[in-house]
Amino acid sequence: MRKKVTVVGAGNVGANTAQKVAAKELADVVLVDVVEGVPQGKSLDMLESAPVEGYDVKITGTNGYDETADSDIVVITAGIARKPGMSRDDLLMTNYGVIKGVTEQVAKRSPNAILILVTNPLDAMCWTAAKASGFPRERVIGMAGVLDTARFRTFIAEELNVSFENVTAMVLGGHGDTMVPLVRFTNVSGIPITELMDQQTIDRLVQRTRDGGAEIVRHLKTGSAYYAPAASTCEMVESILKDKKKVLPCAVHLEGEYGIHGLFVGVPVKLGAKGVEQIYEIKLSAEEAGALKKSAAAVQELVDVLKEKTK
Ligand code: NAI
Ligand code: 2OP
Repeated sequence: MRKKVTVVGAGNVGANTAQKVAAKELADVVLVDVVEGVPQGKSLDMLESAPVEGYDVKITGTNGYDETADSDIVVITAGIARKPGMSRDDLLMTNYGVIKGVTEQVAKRSPNAILILVTNPLDAMCWTAAKASGFPRERVIGMAGVLDTARFRTFIAEELNVSFENVTAMVLGGHGDTMVPLVRFTNVSGIPITELMDQQTIDRLVQRTRDGGAEIVRHLKTGSAYYAPAASTCEMVESILKDKKKVLPCAVHLEGEYGIHGLFVGVPVKLGAKGVEQIYEIKLSAEEAGALKKSAAAVQELVDVLKEKTK
């Protein structure tokens, strides 16, 4: 029997993720959204590309949750983006409500599913979903590090005019301005980038990575990135469903690792059939550890707002 992946939020990231999961024949896909007609129309459109692209999976669009029952993975992209005049806290509280409601709906119908969160602010939304689902930490995972790492890899490959595939990188921390690209763990086919570029260039690419989401928004004006986010989410789905055990930077609930307690922060993990199968605690330099601590503090600030406003 085929696996089943639900994608909640049939917007830009959700629809592209659903399409990629279907095109790779990873699973049957259920696409859910609150807007009537959108998940139905997009899923039918995707299905009609199956004869051309040659994939055999079921794709269903719905405004309800009954069709999501017994999903193996639920990807949550539902929510809103920040609009002019809206504070960060307004976005936080609106998406808190969306994620809490969506998580409760999916968790009761798919109690054994693995949740992959995408909605921003990512690390705080993971915390919300973990609380609303009561799922163990190996089954609540945030997508951000794969995307942030992909951006860093892209910029390095372009700068050196080498294959994108040859660049391996590691970006830790929360998904925001304080993310921590780890230069020491970044290489081109094993060659440390410090051997290939000067410090000024590295600093420029690190900063461009930190600003990667904003750079896309500046171009698009009315929305944020979705092709690379969807590809990144699909890589996580594939690693889990095929039990590939890829080591990827993902937001997971830390319970003492890296000196962080009770927060979702991006760190390297092994993703397999059980979800997060291992958290790698790598030895950081004092500077790297300080940057990670600062990033965790930014996540803590948002979680504190949630705790205060929802008590
Ligand atoms: P979008 O606006 O295109 O799609 C969001 C969809 O969610 C809309 O179709 C909307 O109708 C739906 N929705 C809203 N409330 C809902 C509810 N209660 N139940 C079901 N569906 C609901 O936005 P886009 O571009 O797809 O982004 C989605 C989220 O992902 C945003 O919060 C964005 O900031 C975040 N994001 C996170 C990334 C990451 O690295 N973690 C990368 C890219 C986007
Ligand atoms: C990004 O990094 C908006 O979080 C999203 O593109």
